[in-house]
Formats: sequence, structure tokens, C-alpha cells
Amino acid sequence: MPGRMGKERGRQERTPVVWMVIHGAIASAFGIAAGLAIDWFPEQGASQAGPIDHLYDVLIWVSVPVFVTVMIIVLFSVQNFRMRPGEENLDGPPIHGNTRLEIIWTAIPAVILVVLCAYAWIVLKDIEEAKAGEMRINVIGQQFAWSYEYPQSNGNPIKSNQLYLIKDQPVRFNVKALDVIHDFWVPAFRLKIDAVPGIATRYRVTPNRLGTYPVVCAELCGLGHSVMRSTATVVSRDAFDKWIAERKAPAQTADGGAPDAKKLFTDGNGAATACGGCHTLADAGTSSTTGPDLDKVLPDMSAKEIEQSIVKPDAEIAPGFEAGLMPKNYGDTLSSKELDALVKYLGEAAGK
Ligand code: CUA
Repeated sequence: MPGRMGKERGRQERTPVVWMVIHGAIASAFGIAAGLAIDWFPEQGASQAGPIDHLYDVLIWVSVPVFVTVMIIVLFSVQNFRMRPGEENLDGPPIHGNTRLEIIWTAIPAVILVVLCAYAWIVLKDIEEAKAGEMRINVIGQQFAWSYEYPQSNGNPIKSNQLYLIKDQPVRFNVKALDVIHDFWVPAFRLKIDAVPGIATRYRVTPNRLGTYPVVCAELCGLGHSVMRSTATVVSRDAFDKWIAERKAPAQTADGGAPDAKKLFTDGNGAATACGGCHTLADAGTSSTTGPDLDKVLPDMSAKEIEQSIVKPDAEIAPGFEAGLMPKNYGDTLSSKELDALVKYLGEAAGK
């Protein structure tokens, strides 16, 4: 008789375990399917994006069942072992731990962690490997703009507020900061790294898809952090060579005509560091209040003063604004023709 009772007790204890495993498997399957179906990331713009997205998918495969297991046990415990009316003053049964269970719940997560860390390390090592014939680009972060330098054989780098990259050409970014910590992030490439004053950080990328992708500052760096944006334009080698040649002769525009100053104001020279990202100017349709309202301050300024406030922004500060908010490198990154056109446009457009 005792034998039969033992068998029955065993069957009763197994039933909820079977129930939990079945429901856990169903919930995990739904969770994994949903996790894989959702587009978490933007388009892949570099060869590094594929392995990173795959790593993310593997993390979903592993972490959803872990989450579901914990939740099922919690729900099961709430259902069966919760305090019921009249039990407020009762102590629970005296339990002194379960060594076998503790070993299991320590060993399984440890194995999962070690395997995932090893996999992630392999992916990172693969991505960060130096490629033959890398192109070097210096990335400079400052409040609140990105600028880029293309080292040239004559020692004078070509400076730009725009980031142009060649499709299928490996790049090594050397990232620097001039004031506080920023973070150079191109979501389409999946990579980002802090720009830290005093040290050079770097990462490698091989753009493999033509297009224009947002560059974001991913480190809270001050008042203009949210407008510290730029774009990375991936072009063919021919288009890049043409663009670099234009930068070498910055006084000339492609068609020989005057630069479009309103476009310069709203988009930057290309897309980076646009004045309109921080300043209100009715004529250009911008309304940001990070910097002074140009419709109010410009009508009292001469062309000389306007030029100085672009090139040496901290020489004179409008009331209510702090020094150091505006990038100090416009004198370098705008060509003289662009600067002239901008000053002329601002003198005419302000207060209209
Ligand atoms: Cu620079 Cu945030």
C-alpha cells in the first residue's frame, strides 16, 4: 500500500510541472516570433550591421525563454502559495533550501552567459579587425556639431561638416572631442563610440549600401545635444572623388555660381551643422530657440558683425545666452564663398 501512495503523490506533483512546461513553450514560441518579426533597427548600411543584427536575434532566442520561465514560476507561485484569508499570522513551512535546485539555477545561467559572451566577443573581434587599404577619417565632436577631416598626402586635411563615405571602402574613424564627452553614432552602421576630450577613440566600418544615414550624438552633452546631428552619405568612388575635388577648391561651387545661402542656413553645407538647427529665422522657416532669435538680433548688426558672430561666436554673446554654445569652427568648415553668401543672406533676410 505505501508503494501505491508514493506513486500517486509523484503523479500529482508532476502535473503542474508538465502544465508549466507546455504553457512556457507556447509563450516562448510567441515571444520569439514577435521578437524576430519586429524591425528593431534601421536599414543595414555597413557590412558590420549583419553580424550585429544576428547577435541580437540570438539574444532574443535565448532571453525570451528565460523571461517566460521566470514569469511562469512567479505566476504559478502566486496562484498556489499565496497567503489566503485567515493565514495572516501563520508562518510558512520550515524550508532550509534545496541544494540540487540551487546548483541547477546557478549552472544553467552561468553556461548561457559564458556562451553568449564568447559569441559576442567573436563578433566584436571580427568587426574590429583592421582591413587592408583603410581610409582614415577624423571625427571631431564639439558643442554642438560634428565635423570631419580627410587627411591628405600634403599634410593639410580637407575639413568638412559633411561625412562622405565610399561604398565598399573600409574606413577607420579616429574620434576626438574638443570640449565635453560626445558619442559618435551612426545607427545604420550599428556602431557608436564615445568622443572623449584628451584621448582618441576609434572604430571601423565598411559602408556597403548607397544612401544617406543619420549621425547622432548619443551622449548628453549640453543644451544643444538634441540638435547635434549630421549625416553620413555613402556614394560611389567617382562621386566621392568629385566631392573631394570640390572641397579642395572650396571657393568654387560645382556650377560656378553663388552658393544657395538659404539652403546653407537650413541644411548646413550639405546637411551638417545647419544654423537653422539652433536659430529662429522666419525667412528660412526655422524656429529653434537654442541660440538667439535672428529675426530679433540681426537687424541691428552690420555685415562685419554678422560675419564675426559666425566665425568668432564667443566674441560677443547675446543677452540670455551662454558662451560656448555655438561651434567655433565655422571659419574652417565654411568656404569663403559660402561665408560671404551666408552673411549677405542673413543681412537681407533678418526681420523680414
Ligand atoms: Cu554631443 Cu550630445
